Amino acid sequence: MNRLEELRRRHAAADQGGGEARKERQHKEGKLSARERVELLLDENSFEELDKLVTHRCRDFGMEEQIVPGDGFVTGWGRIDGRLMYVFAQDFTVFGGSLSEANAQKICKIMDLALKNGAPVIGLNDSGGARIQEGVISLGGYADIFLRNTLASGVVPQISAIMGPCAGGAVYSPAITDFVFMVSHTSYMFVTGPDVIKTVTHEDVSKERLGGSMTHNSVSGVGHFLATDDAECLRMIRELVSYLPQNNRDDPPRLESRDPADRADPELDRIVPEESNQPYDIKEVILHVVDDGNFFEVHEHFAQNLVIGFARMDGRSVGIVANQPAYLAGCLDINSSVKGARFVRFCDAFNIPILTFEDVPGFLPGTDQEFGGIIRHGAKLLFAYAEATVPKITVITRKAYGGAYCVMGSKHIRTDINLAWPTAEIAVMGPEGAVNIVYRRELAAAGDGKAAREEKVAEFRERFANPFIAAERGFIDDVIEPRETRSRVIRALRMLENKVDTMPRKKHGNIPL
Ligand code: HXC
Repeated sequence: MNRLEELRRRHAAADQGGGEARKERQHKEGKLSARERVELLLDENSFEELDKLVTHRCRDFGMEEQIVPGDGFVTGWGRIDGRLMYVFAQDFTVFGGSLSEANAQKICKIMDLALKNGAPVIGLNDSGGARIQEGVISLGGYADIFLRNTLASGVVPQISAIMGPCAGGAVYSPAITDFVFMVSHTSYMFVTGPDVIKTVTHEDVSKERLGGSMTHNSVSGVGHFLATDDAECLRMIRELVSYLPQNNRDDPPRLESRDPADRADPELDRIVPEESNQPYDIKEVILHVVDDGNFFEVHEHFAQNLVIGFARMDGRSVGIVANQPAYLAGCLDINSSVKGARFVRFCDAFNIPILTFEDVPGFLPGTDQEFGGIIRHGAKLLFAYAEATVPKITVITRKAYGGAYCVMGSKHIRTDINLAWPTAEIAVMGPEGAVNIVYRRELAAAGDGKAAREEKVAEFRERFANPFIAAERGFIDDVIEPRETRSRVIRALRMLENKVDTMPRKKHGNIPL
């Protein structure tokens, strides 16, 4: 066989992967093959594969008879909207997508390139974990990847899609990356599977309930995005990266916006209800303010009392953090604090300004929260905001009470521009709570004292439940009409375009983990 034929044979064998039967099984399960996924993810004809001819080195258990060029991992680089991306995809048809020494080295190679060249890494996971026949050599391969995930964190965006199994220690690579996508019904993640759980704790749990896409998107918070199938997942990844810079020294791409920067929106004047305890949907506010009503929500199903996601203002990416009065009255709790903190840190690491919409009655009371460490977890959000040096703008739409006022991008923790709507209530606590404490003895002495109580509550509301005291102090830069929010935020973002702020010299802070 001449060399050219030999080359073609090897390429064809790599393209074949684990063979037609296994590929068919993959399709039957509603999953695409690794190569099909890479094709759909990247711009047409942009993929350049590396290490397609690499083979595994295991010579035990008959493995020497089963050698597939590429060893089941497809790695290389390509483009999304013309921008450089590094990609790896695990091919479940070759030894169940399991990780060998050889393909751990393939992943490390593209991660090293990504770090040197400053471009995102996207991993498409579909794997039975460590290649069992290789033993500890494969475990070492995982650890080599974990190290690179850690070193790359905050330098280049790292995105993981779980498109099949991801179990055991293998879950820790996606967990270190910035965003995890999961596909409905075909993806699952767990550290120990249902059988081990049954043996150790005698619990009966299905794979889907233990580590399926909805479990991780709504209960554990491990998943940030839920896709109905592979194609949607890959489309969503393309959309996500459109908001992100290539690396931590780059700015996010700026798109031409046809939505006027000075667009006034009278609808905003009507969203906050007259009654201060009535809910409304903060997403409505977001949609009315951002460019073209496009909001790419992150963690949509998890800790819904806090809404986070990406949008554009004047064509530039912003990260939005917003309390959601329509869920748990917008209280901050453990999950929402952690959700918000990680997002704020991502935006800060990647030069994405943070726009906060605040309507928060306080931290959620209860033993569950206190025993679970709301002090520690709430501190994460505070720490993340205080540490962030990107442009920060906060708009208080209604409640800003207690510690939550301080945490949610207050002026005191280096927020650049703080605006409030006339409906804002900024105080230590709500009028009812305040009267209960301040006038407890007086009201008890007055017996029933309902009328006296109501009078005091009204007095407190009149005196404190407004934005003007904070504005008199300069804690709020201006009280604005809701309809002007878009234009005021955009002007502030333009003003802050060249913002430079620094941190004291240190190795790293010690965020309360
Ligand atoms: C080698 C593997 C493999 C593995 C699957 N295969 N996992 N080969 N190493 N880890 C092979 C199977 O032998 C089979 O080969 C093919 O892949 C498809 O597997 P099936 O079992 O037929 O598929 P399915 O029924 O869909 O089940 C998928 C699965 C199961 C749930 C992932 O294969 C499984 O439980 N695999 C082992 C998972 C595991 O325990 N991994 C180690 C975890 S510990 P043929 O030739 O029949 O097609 C770990 C530690 C990481 O990963 C450490 C990091 C620090």
